[in-house]
Amino acid sequence: MFDVLPNKIHDESRQGEAYAPFTSDPTVYRKKFYIESYGCQMNFSDSEIVASILNGAGFGATRNVEEADLLLLNTCSVREKAEQTVRKRLTEFRKAKESRPALLVGMLGCMAERLKSKLLEEEKLVDLVVGPDAYRSLPGLIEEAEGGQKAVNVLLSREETYADISPIRLDSNGVTAFVSIMRGCNNMCTFCVVPFTRGRERSRDAHSIISECTELFNRGYKEVTLLGQNVDSYFFMPEHTSGQPVTFALLLEMVAKISPQLRVRFSTSHPKDITDEVLQVMARYHNICKYIHLPVQSGSSRILQLMNRTYTREWYMAKIDRIREVIPGCGISSDIIAGFCTETEEDHNDTLSLMEYSGYDMSYMFFYSERPGTLAHRRYKDDIPDEVKKRRLQEIVSLQNELSKKSNQKDIGKIFEVLIEGESKKSDEDWMGRTSQNKVIVFPKENHRIGKGDYVYVMVTDCTKATLLGKVANPEE
Ligand code: SAH
Ligand code: SF4
Ligand code: F3S
Repeated sequence: MFDVLPNKIHDESRQGEAYAPFTSDPTVYRKKFYIESYGCQMNFSDSEIVASILNGAGFGATRNVEEADLLLLNTCSVREKAEQTVRKRLTEFRKAKESRPALLVGMLGCMAERLKSKLLEEEKLVDLVVGPDAYRSLPGLIEEAEGGQKAVNVLLSREETYADISPIRLDSNGVTAFVSIMRGCNNMCTFCVVPFTRGRERSRDAHSIISECTELFNRGYKEVTLLGQNVDSYFFMPEHTSGQPVTFALLLEMVAKISPQLRVRFSTSHPKDITDEVLQVMARYHNICKYIHLPVQSGSSRILQLMNRTYTREWYMAKIDRIREVIPGCGISSDIIAGFCTETEEDHNDTLSLMEYSGYDMSYMFFYSERPGTLAHRRYKDDIPDEVKKRRLQEIVSLQNELSKKSNQKDIGKIFEVLIEGESKKSDEDWMGRTSQNKVIVFPKENHRIGKGDYVYVMVTDCTKATLLGKVANPEE
């Protein structure tokens, strides 16, 4: 069921997925919790930290609402729709609570942080409100809530990275895993609520990152994705002065050196912070995947300035040129917002032309959703009518579909090294894997002695706009 593990931030297909580890034996736990995650990959990753903390307090995970003593929603605030989805889900939980009054309902994550105790007034059903930096206090808060009190902890921290907590891989395919390397964000993109819900940026101890990745590899994992809102500003100063400061480029290299058999990915890069050094390290190591998610947000320099992205259209184009020069054949994807405050048709056309210039393999596309408390909310008017936003978004989506198709068609006839992640969702006769460029590829198992977690060479024979189709072409066979 979980064979296709998307390893990108904001994969809509996983929103609200309920999960529990395959291996845990719930009978050994005193109580059971059920958790659903929304939003970005960092939230999914945090749910694995929460699971670890709860396990320590005697709670086992379940995929079944009916048998849970504690229902948790790990929430997202990035767009209004994300919050609406969570509220709808809460009303569904109401039924469960009506028949079992002792059942506890908790809100975790960014919406908990944004709304704080207001959430308890708005959503009477909720017993617990816990922000992203307060998960260590969950066991205590649960006890308070069990005693009939409403429990809240939304303190943000400047230090918390949960470095010492070993996450419980909740819905793992056993091949790919996510590893948080930093938390928070110091950029103040005017549209974005993340700096308010996640707090100040802080980097996790490099040693704990390396040991987590090494342990994953020793357990059979073949790919790690290093996660942060802005991974390129990772910076860690070891306590012992003899240690050299660890930049993102160095960290990437350290992880790549664990084993040539371990693929390394990362997300997300801010165009202003990705350095030439990072590109050079990527080019040097075969096992660092040739894929960069480089959100542009808009193709208009005027809008980029209003967004406080701190780069211009031309500067971004030069970055794309540099990536293509240093890492030929690198996959590039983007995030794009349609209809930001004051956006004209000309600005919108600039976005379309920049998309063409960049030749994105894939994009996550949204229309602007004003978020309370952000700089854009305070400073600008959300003045683009909904129908214009939606029409522009549609044009962006259509263009991206064309670009994705073109990019996939260019791969036909080529041979790629693929890491098999599991069986295809559609047929157990087929394997599903990814190329280094992060494209999903599906190919028949035939009689090859290969399986999940293996690397295999695959020739691309056909494609759709989202998937490559292929045939095993192992040169050594
Ligand atoms: N840290 C990442 C992205 C975090 S949020 C980065 O800087 O790229 C993920 C994406 O959601 C953003 O890239 C942006 O495209 C989108 N987004 C954020 N706030 C939004 C808003 N208010 N309305 C619409 N889309 C938004
Ligand atoms: Fe939001 Fe900008 Fe930070 Fe990304 S870099 S999380 S868009 S403030
Ligand atoms: Fe992620 Fe949504 Fe929070 S995108 S950081 S879960 S607001």
